[in-house]
Parts: sequence; C-alpha cells; structure tokens
Amino acid sequence: MPNYDASRLHIVDHPLVQHKLTLLRNKNTSTKDVRQLVGELAIFEGYEALRDLPLEDVQMETPLEPMVGKRIAGKKLAVIPILRAGLGMVDGLLTLVPSARVGHVGLCRDEKTHEPTRYFCKLPHNIQDRTCLVLDPMLATGGTLVDAIQFLRSEGVADIRCLTIVCSPKGIERVLDSDDGVKLYTCAIDRQLNKDAYILPGLGDAGDRIFGTL
Ligand code: URA
Repeated sequence: MPNYDASRLHIVDHPLVQHKLTLLRNKNTSTKDVRQLVGELAIFEGYEALRDLPLEDVQMETPLEPMVGKRIAGKKLAVIPILRAGLGMVDGLLTLVPSARVGHVGLCRDEKTHEPTRYFCKLPHNIQDRTCLVLDPMLATGGTLVDAIQFLRSEGVADIRCLTIVCSPKGIERVLDSDDGVKLYTCAIDRQLNKDAYILPGLGDAGDRIFGTL
C-alpha cells in the first residue's frame, strides 16, 4: 500500500480504541456487546473526523462572571450510513452531533463479483452544502465505498469523510485512489482479504454481528 498523506488517511488508534476493537473482534463477544462497541468506536472516530469544526465566540456568564466562550459555528452535517452495517455507527455520531441529518445509501455486494448495486438512496435536503460522514465499519474491496462516494459527488457533495472500523490495504488504496478529496478514518488496517472478500483477521460479517443474524 502506498504511503498516503496523513491528511487523507487517519488511523484512530487511541489505547481505548485498540482495547475496544479487540473485544469487538473476539468471536465470543455477544450481539449486545458488539452493538455497544461499534457505537463507542464510532464516537471515537467522529471525535477525530470533526476535529476541524469551525468555532465562534459567544458572550455568556458563568455563575461568577461574564466571559467569552466558544461554540460550533453552525456547520451543516449529514451522517450517511451504508446499509446495513453502517447503521450500527449512527447512534454514536448522533451522540456527538444530535442535530445532524441522516441519509441512507443501500448497497449490496454481488456474491460472485463482490461489486455493489444500489438499491436504496435517500439523502437530506441541501446535501451539497453539508459535510458528509459516510459510515461503513468494514472497508474490504472498496467497491461499495467507492460507489457511495461517486453517488455523493454526483449529488454535489464537496466534503466527504469516510468512517470505517477495520480496513484492508487493498480497500484503502482503491478508495483513496478513486477520489482525490475524500478523507478516510479507520481504527485498524488488517492484513488481507480472503477469497470471499472478508477481511483477515477482521471481525467477521459486521452486519450479522451487529444485528445478530449469524
Ligand atoms: N464486510 C464485512 O462485514 N466483513 C468483512 O470482513 C468484509 C466485508
């Protein structure tokens, strides 16, 4: 994998993230705990991905005296989970930004070619004015994420940040080479894909583990 610029590829590897990711990878972790861990990891990723949110001064008073505080300067955000596993990360992002709009992109992989087909897309109004946080826990071949990015670009979105939990080197390369402007966040870069395009060592099928459909 080429060495990508740190402004495009962000590895969120705080010790708490690594600890939670190990719990998530464990095959014996329950559905309830998987759901909670995915939500918590999404919060850490959102925290990093929104580091550059613009601030403005606000005049206010503490119980002791007036002061100038800071507040977020009205940045418009949209959280876009890729169905279905991306849904597991939505609540984490909404914990950070309760007013964010939520769009949905439904893509399924062809079992043989592993290429995506869009079956449902619904985006918030004025999507072209929003920073879009695209959520998909597993970046395997990259086909799904590349298609979602192309779809958002075709809708006029300028600022796209993709939040994943585990990536394959191949997926990272495909996504970052497909679009010069996109930013990618992940908690881990794993070794490789297997013949069925699952990430090794990975954590299995994220959708099945989050929704208990194993
Ligand atoms: N999707 C998953 O859920 N897991 C993988 O390992 C690859 C794609």
